[in-house]
Amino acid sequence: MSNQSLFPVTPELAAQSKINDEQYRRMYQESVVNPEGFWREHGKRITWFKDYSKIRKVSFDDHNLYINWFYDGTLNASYNCLDRHLETRGDQPAIIWEGDDASEQLTLTYSQLHEKVCAFANALRGQGVQRGDVVTLYMPMVPEAAVAMLACARIGAIHSVIFGGFSPDSIASRIIDGKSKVVITADQGVRAGRTIPLKANVDAALANPDVNCVERVIVLKRTGGDIDWQDDRDIWWSDLMAVSSPHCPAEEMNAEDPLFILYTSGSTGTPKGVLHTTGGYMVYASMTHEYVFDYRDGEIYWCTADVGWITGHSYMVYGPLANGATLLMHEGVPNYPSPARMGEMIDRHKVNILYTAPTLIRALMAEGADHFNDFDGSSLRVMGSVGEPINPEAWRWYYDVIGKEQSPIVDTWWQTETGGILITPLPGATDLKPGSATRPFFGVQPALVDNMGNLIEGAGEGNLVMLDSWPGQMRSVYGDHERFVLTYFKTFRGMYFTGDGARRDEDGYYWITGRVDDVINVSGHRLGTAEIESALVAHPDVAEAAVVGYPHDIKGQGIYAYVTLNKGIEETEALRQSLRQWVRSEIGALATPDLIQWAPGLPKTRSGKIMRRFLRKIAANEVGSLGDSSTLADPAVIDDLIQTRLNRS
Ligand code: PRX
Repeated sequence: MSNQSLFPVTPELAAQSKINDEQYRRMYQESVVNPEGFWREHGKRITWFKDYSKIRKVSFDDHNLYINWFYDGTLNASYNCLDRHLETRGDQPAIIWEGDDASEQLTLTYSQLHEKVCAFANALRGQGVQRGDVVTLYMPMVPEAAVAMLACARIGAIHSVIFGGFSPDSIASRIIDGKSKVVITADQGVRAGRTIPLKANVDAALANPDVNCVERVIVLKRTGGDIDWQDDRDIWWSDLMAVSSPHCPAEEMNAEDPLFILYTSGSTGTPKGVLHTTGGYMVYASMTHEYVFDYRDGEIYWCTADVGWITGHSYMVYGPLANGATLLMHEGVPNYPSPARMGEMIDRHKVNILYTAPTLIRALMAEGADHFNDFDGSSLRVMGSVGEPINPEAWRWYYDVIGKEQSPIVDTWWQTETGGILITPLPGATDLKPGSATRPFFGVQPALVDNMGNLIEGAGEGNLVMLDSWPGQMRSVYGDHERFVLTYFKTFRGMYFTGDGARRDEDGYYWITGRVDDVINVSGHRLGTAEIESALVAHPDVAEAAVVGYPHDIKGQGIYAYVTLNKGIEETEALRQSLRQWVRSEIGALATPDLIQWAPGLPKTRSGKIMRRFLRKIAANEVGSLGDSSTLADPAVIDDLIQTRLNRS
């Protein structure tokens, strides 16, 4: 590692930060040598109704798997995000909201947010929602999304948030899986100047004959646009709130009671409902938010993630609000109406901490630094990156142009399943290397194993696993515990398998190399190639499909589909477009293939297994290093695919 790509912590930064390197090392050591003692102490950062005496009961044995944290304590997540702040910071802004159109601004103080959450919690109860029920949210980025989540938490209901970019079919399957009686949505969302037909998508999802659990749809009026209405099913948010009492004591929940489910893609099957529980999750989300961002009282914190993803749960709602932060919430995208928007928002709201994704940085970078000529940026102190590997060029641009070489970048590695950040620098403690997520957070024990499951010591590369539990870990796949065990604990026995590959350098720093399974990461959105393939083969003209990721300058990975058509179907440009549209409507715009190559044949072994490594190489335009194709049933298929490949540079 050359010194040029090392960004050491300055003595000034170390002195003013919560944790310096020596403290990190000491605390980390304590957290893994004596986890009971460490977490007994740090669990206290959350307000418990009944204190815990038990800290952890964990087994990663795939025949007898259990994960419990603080498990005799009781608490409420919404109480921790709201009530406990009222005395000291009732008048402090909790949420500063900026609309897609910047002329729309709104601020909610902690007292105001508390009042809205209590009223909406009562409204939900009035609609028959009970403790343990699953409530589905399909919301735009407006404060009411946080209100609805916290209202669920307040009465012990389990929220299931669906990203607003998903299609009616995706909504339907998630509603069925969660058996939701109530869906909360808005008439329309607004993003980058366009409206998104949220209510119409919910209507279409509920028209699916397999969805018969939903009794009520609560609709927030955001745009006032035209929507269909079913009197016996639909009700306006505002009508409910108008008659709802703003007094609602928070339900006393056990630490291991579910807080939410959030669906995420894996290498096989339909998306899984990742289940998170209350106590450990709250401790972990709030603690990581404080230490990873070196968060200080009263600071303005901006996370650009959508509430439909785990980052929007842990680092827009639960972590920052539990810490009493003021968060900036943006309805739209930070590069609309122009790439200058992001800088303007940072200056307008004096943002101290920014948390965003590499794909956005790369998109801004492609537009040129000129858009930041008028950007002051002096309020910024810490910048985060999440969702995919950040390439060193994008890191450098982020550091120079947005951070003005003053703000450390925390490249945070984690997953929907982990609930919170697991591998990350700490601003005043960790010397930075662009592209490396660096070191484990307290209590986190990463390791690398080879494909046989043997531990790799020292510097090396392998599959990234976790040897022990941390409080924010998912507890199950909703409704399918076997799948949880199978997906995460059977590949390498006794360990949690992340699905990622990583390299560890001579300083012990981790460099995430990307997924080692059939999951791809498109603009930080996680997609299973199998999901896209099954959408494609559901089309009447398609016989077979194989989907792989390929390197994409802005999105990180693009979606490359090889499609075999049914006999007699002509390979036309019009069909290609309609297949793209088809996948869009089956899954959502985020899953639209970038490139579709007609593949009269796919490379298969004699037993019929598709050899994806060839397809990945062809899609990446790395045709010079294809390797041995002698095991294929018909090696000539490869030459055909190379001849007609699309991603030539
Ligand atoms: O491959 C890793 C990548 O995103 C995956 C998790 O995706 P998801 O569950 O949607 O959560 C995203 C937000 C936490 C991981 O398995 N990933 C996430 N953060 C990073 C990353 N890859 C490299 N560097 C990161 N900082």
